[in-house]
Amino acid sequence: MSHRSFRAAGLALALALLWASPLGAAAPEPARSRTGMVVTPHPEATRAGVAALEAGGNAIDAAVAAAFAMAVTQPQSNGIGGGAFVLVRLADGRAFALDARETAPAASTPDMYLQPGLPERPSLLGGLAVGTPGMVAGMALALEKWGTQSLAQALGPSIALAAEGYEVGSYQQTWVDRLSGRSAIPRFSAVFAKGLRTRFGEMAAIHMPEDATEPGWVLRQPDLAKTLSAIAADGPRAFYEGEIARAIAEATQKHGGILTAEDLAAYRPVVREPVRGTYRGLEVLSFPPPSSGGVAVVQVLNLVEGFDLRGFGAGSSAAIHHLAEAMKLAFADRAAHLGDPDFTPVPVEKLTSEAYADELRARIHPDRVAVVDGPGIAPRDDQGTAHLSVTDAAGNAVAITSTINGPFGSMVMVPGTGILLNNEMDDFTTDPNAPNLYGLVGTTSANLVEPGKRPLSSMAPTIATKDGKVRFVGGSNGGPRIITATLLSMIHVVDHDMDVQEAVSAPRFHHQWRPDVLQLEGAHPADVVEALRARGHEVKVADELVTGVEAIVVGPDGTQYGAPDPRRNGLAAGPAR
Ligand code: GLY
Repeated sequence: MSHRSFRAAGLALALALLWASPLGAAAPEPARSRTGMVVTPHPEATRAGVAALEAGGNAIDAAVAAAFAMAVTQPQSNGIGGGAFVLVRLADGRAFALDARETAPAASTPDMYLQPGLPERPSLLGGLAVGTPGMVAGMALALEKWGTQSLAQALGPSIALAAEGYEVGSYQQTWVDRLSGRSAIPRFSAVFAKGLRTRFGEMAAIHMPEDATEPGWVLRQPDLAKTLSAIAADGPRAFYEGEIARAIAEATQKHGGILTAEDLAAYRPVVREPVRGTYRGLEVLSFPPPSSGGVAVVQVLNLVEGFDLRGFGAGSSAAIHHLAEAMKLAFADRAAHLGDPDFTPVPVEKLTSEAYADELRARIHPDRVAVVDGPGIAPRDDQGTAHLSVTDAAGNAVAITSTINGPFGSMVMVPGTGILLNNEMDDFTTDPNAPNLYGLVGTTSANLVEPGKRPLSSMAPTIATKDGKVRFVGGSNGGPRIITATLLSMIHVVDHDMDVQEAVSAPRFHHQWRPDVLQLEGAHPADVVEALRARGHEVKVADELVTGVEAIVVGPDGTQYGAPDPRRNGLAAGPAR
C-alpha cells in the first residue's frame, strides 16, 4: 500500500491524473492529520465527529456522533428510522461487526407481498415496507461497548442540527427535486412523487417546502430534535418503548403496515465476527451476513489476486474485464447462498476461501465473457444509504454504513417525531420471480421473509490492516454498487498506487451478474468501452453511478489521509490539534 508521497513519478502520475475524477478533472489532495480523521457525506456530520475527537473521545465516540449527525443531514439516505452496520477495529487488534439491521415484524410471512389487493410495490412504499428500526439501539450499544463518551454527548450536535437546521447540498437537492415532482426523471416523478403526495402527505409537508428549489436552503426538523433529545435523556428505551414506539407502530399500521410496539420492544442489535480475507499482504475485515457485502468483497479480491491488475493498468479494458467477470461470479453466489445467518446456513468459510477462488478463477477467460443465463432486468437508479469512516490517534478505526434503503425509505413519516421510516423489507426476496429495487434477485429461499429475520444487505463497511496497523477504512452507498465501489477504491490504492482521494474519485464500473450488463461511468475512454464490447460485454455507460465512497488511508508513518467522494457533498477533516 502506498500513497502520494511514496509514489513513483512518470507513467504512474500520468495515469493517476487521467483517472483522477469521474469528470476527468484532477483530484484535490486528500485531507491529512496525525491525530484522527473523519470522512462523511455531509460537512456537518464530519464536524460532529471531529468535535468528539477534540473533546478527547476515541474513534467510536466520533463515529457515533457523526452517524447521528449523518442521520439528520442525509434524510434521503439514512436515519433513526432505519438500520446500520458498524465495523470496529480496535488498536489492540480486536475487531467486531455490530449488526443493527432492521428485522421483519413478527406478523411477517414469506408471501406477504404476493397477496391480492395490495397497493403497487408494497415492499417499497407505505407501512408494509417497514422493518423494525435498529439504528438507535446499535449506536447506543457501540458507545457502551467501545466508546468513552455518553449517548447524550454523542447526540448533542445532531440535536442542534435538527433544531437549528443545516444547508441542503446539491446531492440532497437532487433527491428532493425527484421526490417533489421537479425531477428530470419522469419515471421517478410519476411513480414516486405522485404516490407520495396522495398517500403520505405528512412527509411532503415536512421535507418539501415549495421554495426548496436550489441547494443552500436550510432544512429544520424540530420534531426530530425533540425525539433525539428524548433519546439523549432516557437512552434507547425512549425510542423502543412508550410514546415514540407507539407512534411508530401507529404510523406504519395507518399506512397498511404490521409493525407493532412489541416488535420495537423486542429489537436487539447483534455483535458478530467480521468476515476476514487477505489481499496482496493486507488483512481485510468486512461485514458478515446478513450482509452479502463482506463475503462478496473478499470473494472478488481473492479472485483477482490471481491476475496482474497492476500490469493491466488502471482503467484498462483488461483490468475492467477481469474484475467484472469476478464480480459476476460473486453476485451469482450472493443470489444463491446469502441471507440472515440466524435463519439460514451461509457457507461463509467456503465462499471466502482461496481454494474456492482458485476453482472459480478457472471460469474467467482473458478475452471473452463467461456465459450467463437468466433474464436481463435493468436495475433501478434509486437508492438511499450513507457511509462514514473514522480513525483516531490511538489506532482505532470505525466504518459505519447506515440506511433507510430507498430514497426517503418507505416515505412514511411518524407524525410529531420527525422519524422517517425505512423500506428495508424490499431487501428480502419478496417475490421469487421479480428483482428488488436494485435489480437484485434471490435464486433460493435463503433471503425469503420470516418473522424477526434480517433482510440481506450489500453494505460493506471494510477495514484493511498491514502488520497489525490499520491502513484502509472505507465503504459506500449505492445498493449492490456498494460492494464494487468499495473494492475498486481499495484496488486503486493497492494495485495502482493512487492516493485515497484519487482512488475514490476514479471512474467506477459495476457488474452484478443479473442483469448481464456491465455499467461504466462516462469518464471511461471510448476505446476501452469498445474493447469491452469486443470481449462480449453488454456495456451501459452512465454519467455517474450512484455511489459514495468515504475513505481513509493510513500511511506507514501513521499519517491519516481522508477523502470524501466528489459524487456527494462530503468532507474529510481531522482535529485542530
Ligand atoms: N438497503 C441497501 C442494502 O442494505 O444493501
